[in-house]
Parts: sequence; structure tokens; C-alpha cells
Amino acid sequence: MTEKMGMAAARERVKELRRVIEEHNYRYYGLDQPIISDFEYDKLLKELIDLEKAYPELITPDSPSQRVGGVVLKEFQPVQHEQALLSLDNAFNDEDLLDFDRRVRQATGSSVAYVVEPKIDGLSVALTYNNGIFTLGATRGDGRVGEEVTANLKTIASLPLRLKQSISKLIVRGEVFMPKAAFASLNKTREEAGEQLFANPRNAAAGSLRQLDTKVTASRQLGFFAYQVISIEGATINSQVEALELMAELGLPVAPYRVLAPDIKAVLDEVKAWTPERRAELPYEIDGLVIKVNDLSLYSTLGMTTRAPRWAMAFKFPAEQATTRVEDIILRVGRTGVLTPTAILSPVRLAGTTVGRATLHNEDYIREKDVRIGDTVVVQKAGDIIPEVVEVLKEKRKGLEKPFKMPGRCPVCGAAVVRVSGEAAHRCTNGLACPAQVLEGIIHFASRGAMDIQGLGPSIITQLLESGLIHDAADLYYLKQEDLLKLERFGKQSSKNLIEAIEQSKQQPLERLLFGLGIRYVGQRAARILAKHFGSLDKLASATKEEIMSLSDIGSSIANSVQQFFDEPQNLKVIEKLKQAGVRLETKGTITTEGPLTGKTLVITGTLPGLSRKEAEALITQAGGKVTSSVSRNTDYLLAGEKPGSKYTKAEELGIPIIDLEGLKQLID
Ligand code: IVH
Repeated sequence: MTEKMGMAAARERVKELRRVIEEHNYRYYGLDQPIISDFEYDKLLKELIDLEKAYPELITPDSPSQRVGGVVLKEFQPVQHEQALLSLDNAFNDEDLLDFDRRVRQATGSSVAYVVEPKIDGLSVALTYNNGIFTLGATRGDGRVGEEVTANLKTIASLPLRLKQSISKLIVRGEVFMPKAAFASLNKTREEAGEQLFANPRNAAAGSLRQLDTKVTASRQLGFFAYQVISIEGATINSQVEALELMAELGLPVAPYRVLAPDIKAVLDEVKAWTPERRAELPYEIDGLVIKVNDLSLYSTLGMTTRAPRWAMAFKFPAEQATTRVEDIILRVGRTGVLTPTAILSPVRLAGTTVGRATLHNEDYIREKDVRIGDTVVVQKAGDIIPEVVEVLKEKRKGLEKPFKMPGRCPVCGAAVVRVSGEAAHRCTNGLACPAQVLEGIIHFASRGAMDIQGLGPSIITQLLESGLIHDAADLYYLKQEDLLKLERFGKQSSKNLIEAIEQSKQQPLERLLFGLGIRYVGQRAARILAKHFGSLDKLASATKEEIMSLSDIGSSIANSVQQFFDEPQNLKVIEKLKQAGVRLETKGTITTEGPLTGKTLVITGTLPGLSRKEAEALITQAGGKVTSSVSRNTDYLLAGEKPGSKYTKAEELGIPIIDLEGLKQLID
């Protein structure tokens, strides 16, 4: 269909699709009133993407197609903020707020009205719109210099790429956040994958936005609320209420709750109205309220300190706490053998949920707080999500409480437990001979981020291990339907489905297998980098430490751990079994471009005349070459621009040819 459409018709259709898609986006995210189904929406988006594929010249930076991610950045570029992004002073009680009001009245000489807004718990960003088009997005950073995250921000569905009116210039500040539901599902996936959990939605939002691979950001369902106009050309606003209204009119999402309080008394009433129950009902976390002087003309009189403006104040909610009893302290043995102590609590209501467990992190934490079995403790939710023990009420002790001691032997396999010096964690030393580590390792192997074997969860893996049908992850590929039929809970269809799912997983890309092998420190990102560079498990296994470390973002701990992994005979046995079973151990149809630089590794240093680093890299990779970040014996050329760094001396020392941009062009020609 699309190929047959002429250019002029395609241009018109693309324009129409963009308008319609943005309208539906706004209805969905801005108004919460969608009028079409997700399916219909996806169909429109797909039509647009297909048309843009057929006519790449029609792609524009504000096209909704840009939201799906796909840009892979090498590093984040620093951005100098036009105006420093300040922080806020905190108030914790009515007194603090009354003091704030007193100072405001003293400076302005009159009573003033305030706007009370929710304080969204995420991370602050500044967005620049030029002629209505979103052109630059940056994190707050240290307030003066942040990081450029435009491509990442474009993946946030509620963030408009084009404003509803094209005012000449607008810079707004707002908060990127992760809704509670998205946070819960992300952590669930991570738990299944044996990955470290995010402690709270704020960390999760920050971690998700700062992803070099924007597809990852796109998958995280982030939200955005604008709350401040930093600078504006082409329209006038006189108050914070007007600023919020204007931003909403322009299509920017603005938090749906705000109150214009005529005086500080009304502010105190509003603060009181925000009960923990009301907070719990919101689909995103707020950690307080922000109180701002409404009249913008007073801002210059009020001025600011180096840290925060004098026209605003953050009211921080107290962390919700509850008192309960520690019934027991149990240990969980993780995939890498780490023993994590967890307090089993008498169930207690806390910030909208019932809490029955709290993490005790490690032995030092237990010792520092002196937590004993039988103690009455105060628990709180860190960032309102993961409960932790804050304090032991020692006056409630009866003398029967039992101190906890880290065992010298693993509670699962009985092997020795050691605490590696410099680490807080205790580990079981039995490696893959510890059933708990084997179990967790296979759960990780089959998990969604790794080999993604549908229907193979912790309980089935436990069943397979206990029945002796498997001893490691590779054994999964030798299972037969008859084996499964002998097990409880398996019928004809379910056993067939599982065998099929296992079979399908043989074709998973190398990066997933690499991640699934559970090599210490090799998370999804490192696995992707290693798979892309080496192309096969064999090549990675025989790579030198230097070669592994020459890849950008791969440090010595990953390189060491990769080598240790391939030095371990047990691991080699598993890999051999995977190979025999037909599991894919290399990247399919490696995507290296053939060209004059094929097989050559280049490093870039200094500023290149008239060419950004990204453009230079593209030039090299298009010619078949590879760019790494540090100079080693494996480097073929150093491309040096103005003001080269220490890489220049290193290349000289190693006798590596140093070329300039002209030299590069000659090589390519
Ligand atoms: S106004 C110069 N309004 O809270 C004043 N900040 O603790 C700019 N925040 O860094 C901030 N919701 O990231 C403002 N409605 C809101 C907010 C808000 C969340 C964050 C913001 C700021 C932090 C200060």
C-alpha cells in the first residue's frame, strides 16, 4: 500500500496521522479520556511508521514515531542551563510554613496568595520548545549543567513533541516520574530476572531516563508533569496559576491538583487535607506539597539564595511509620550466593498496604540497629515502597529476645559462608553446588530479560530440580515431553507448551544468553555490548582482558568476572551442552558493514574540525570500522583532533599510527 502512494499523498497522510495521533495522545494522557482503543491507536502509529520508512525524508523530530525509542547514545552530552535550576527549601511543620510566610510578607510588604501543588517524587528536567517544537531536554544535574536526554524524553508518551500553539520560545521545568503501577511491574520483572530492584519509583524514574539505549526508556512507561515556566517569548503570564493554565493549554501535562490559597492559613488547611489515605489513592508518588507565591511580579523582589528561591517552599510529608514485632529473621540465598537477612513481621498496615516483611540488608545493619527476634520495632517504607526497620523500641524488651547471628554455614547446602573483605555481604562458597544458587541461576536463565522461556517459573524449575530431571540450565534443552508428563501438574497440553517454549528459546539473541548465564556484573547492558562486539561466545571466551576492557562502559570488574567465568570447567561444560543442543551461541547475520575499515579499530581524541564525535563515529562504522574508547595494542589508528587528551601520548608510546580527519578521509577513500 504505502509504496504505491505518491510523495505528495504520503506527505498529506503523514501530516494527518501525526495530528490525529497527537490528539489521541493528549486525550489519553492529558485528559484521561481516550476515544479509541489501544489497538486502533497502535494501528495508526504503525501506519505512520511504515510511511516514514518508505519516505524517510518525511521524518521530523516532532513525529510521534520518534517516541518508540531506538536511538542508542554513546554518552550523555552536558547542557548548560540558560537559567540555573534551583532546588527548594523544606518545611516540615506549620511553624516552618508560618516562618516562610512571615519572610515573604516582610519582603513584599503585603499579604500574598499562594499556589499549593503536589510535590511529584521523580526527577527534574528542563524542556525547550522552539517555535512550538520540542528541541532540547536536559536533566537538572547540579543545577547549572545537566545532561542532554532529548531522545529519552521523546519516548514519554504524555510529553508533547509539538505544542498546541507555536509560541516562539518556551522553556519549562517539570518532573519525570514512574507511576506506582509501572514501578511495581518493573520490579516484579527484575525480581524474576534476578536483577537488583529499584528502591523507589524516583530511583526507577532516574535510572530509566538515563538510559543510553532509548528503547529501554520507552519500555518503562514514564510520566511527566510540567510545573514551572522558566522562560517564555511570544506570550505573557503574570501568575503561577496562569503559568499552569498556559502550559495545560499548550498540551503540556500538568498535575490535576492545585489550589490557589488566598493566605497562609488556607495553605495550612490544604496541607492538612493531604492525609496518607488521599496520597495512597494517587497513581504516582508525591513526597510533599510545593507552596509558591502566585504573583510572578514579586519573584524578583523576593530573590533567591544560592540554593533555592525565596518565593517557594517544599512541605515534606512525614514518612509513615508503624510499630510491630519481629517474629523471625530468615535468610535468602541469592543467585550469587549472597545471604540476605529478612525480618518476618507481625502483619501491620503501612501507607496503604499490609506489611509482613522488612529487609535487614546485611549483618552490619542488624548489628547497628541491634535488631533481635522478638523485638518491637518501628518500620517505615523507604520512598514509601520497600519497608525497612528504622528503630528498635528497646524499652519494650522483656529479656527473651534472641540476637541474630550470621551462620557459618549456608542454610540451604551447609557449605561454608564467608564475608569477603570490603563487602557487607556474606556469601555461600559452594557456587553451583549450592541448590539455592542453582535454582536462582536457572530462574534467572529462563526469565523475561534473559532466555524468556514462557511458562517456566520458579515453582516448575524447583520441581524439575527436585525430580532430578535437570541439574543446570543446559539440561532444560534435553527435556522430553514424556519426562514432564511424569510430573505432578503437567498434562498433555502444558508439557507440549513448555517443550515448545524451551525449543523456541534456542533462537534468542546472543545478548540474552550472555545475560542469562548470570556472569557476575554482566547485566543486560553489558551483555548487549559484549555480544555486539564479539559476536560469539567462543570469541568472548578467548578475548584478552585488555580487549574486553577497551569497550566503552566495560570496566575491569566485568572483564575479570567474564574471564573467571570461562576459566571455570563447570561453566564450560554447561556451554558445551548448550552448543550440542543447538542453542544459538553467536549473533545472527552479524551486522558489521563491509568497507575499507573492516577489521580496523579506531579511537577518537580531541575536537574534530567541523565534525561532532557522533558524526565521526558514524563515518568510521559506515566504512566497516569499529570505535572503542581507550587506546590499547589492539587499536589500529588514533584519530586525533584539536586538544587531544592522554590517549595521544598512550598511542605514541605504543607506536600506534595517529591520523587527523584528512587522514581518515584518505583511508576511507
Ligand atoms: S518548583 C525553583 N514544583 O522538588 C523551584 N518542584 O525538592 C523549582 N518538584 O527539584 C521547583 N514537584 O524536582 C516545583 N510542583 C512542583 C514540584 C517540584 C516536584 C521537585 C523538583 C525540585 C524538588 C525540590
